[in-house]
Amino acid sequence: MKDTELVGVQQTLNPVLKAKALDNRLPDPILGDEHAERVMRRLDPAYDKDRFGRSQIGLAAVVRAKAHDDWARSYLADHPDAVVLHLGCGLDARVYRIDPPPTVDWYDLDYPSVIALRRELLPPREHYTLIASDVTDLTWLDRVPRGRPALMIAEGLVPYLTEPDVRRLLTSVVDAFPTGRLQFDTTPVWAWRFSRWDPTLRRYGGAQFHCGFDDPAALADWHPRLEYVDEKPMYDAPILMAKAPAGTRRLYRVLNLVPGMKRSTRIVRFRF
Ligand SMILES: C[S@@+](CC[C@H](N)C(=O)[O-])C[C@H]1O[C@@H](n2cnc3c(N)ncnc32)[C@H](O)[C@@H]1O
Repeated sequence: MKDTELVGVQQTLNPVLKAKALDNRLPDPILGDEHAERVMRRLDPAYDKDRFGRSQIGLAAVVRAKAHDDWARSYLADHPDAVVLHLGCGLDARVYRIDPPPTVDWYDLDYPSVIALRRELLPPREHYTLIASDVTDLTWLDRVPRGRPALMIAEGLVPYLTEPDVRRLLTSVVDAFPTGRLQFDTTPVWAWRFSRWDPTLRRYGGAQFHCGFDDPAALADWHPRLEYVDEKPMYDAPILMAKAPAGTRRLYRVLNLVPGMKRSTRIVRFRF
């Protein structure tokens, strides 16, 4: 097996990357990520040629990425000395999109094969470190400088971890830094249970979710210094309704009528 071959949950980076690549081809993109389009083409030159080739059905994932970017930009504007922990980074080009000042130290973490692929496909930069590790092996935290504000971003990661692992991760990050933000997304319990039949997950690596939260704000109870801040919309986000092509917009309007769908991913933020 090549050291860049993706297996299981690692393959879930693919549909998200594809969604970002296709967004970049819209006349007025939501994210406008040129790296995503270039990397997707190198990974799979025929990525837009299959049955749903150019469908923008994945655009909600792009809305999620934009929500995380906007929160991250505003935190870094106020905390230019921050350390960024971007966990389960996949092949996402967030560090290039945000382009933080050199006073910020940015860490991208994912499994070793994903990191090896990143090294092949995305350029290095100053004040930017790749960590090849399972996020649940918390010894990676020893490689990150302490004593500074921390911004933890985990996009599309938490549902793939077990609840005890999520709890250990969040509380360890809070314990390791004097102050900071945690931003991530979660799925409700029904979506966790349903994930074994989810056609996208079955197609990409057969991964399954391992946790679900009906009230993600309650995760603040896990640590006395942790406080829930707010949530951003995804499937019914105004930017999705404003920028998606008409057919995609109609599809999301119908999907959003299905009970539970609108909040089947919750993008949430906490401070400490
Ligand atoms: C749905 S993808 C999201 C990728 C990226 N955050 C994005 O939004 O484009 C999930 C990512 O989490 C990573 N992942 C899942 N479980 C992990 C773990 N235990 N340790 C490190 N990375 C993990 C996978 O390898 C994959 O890259």
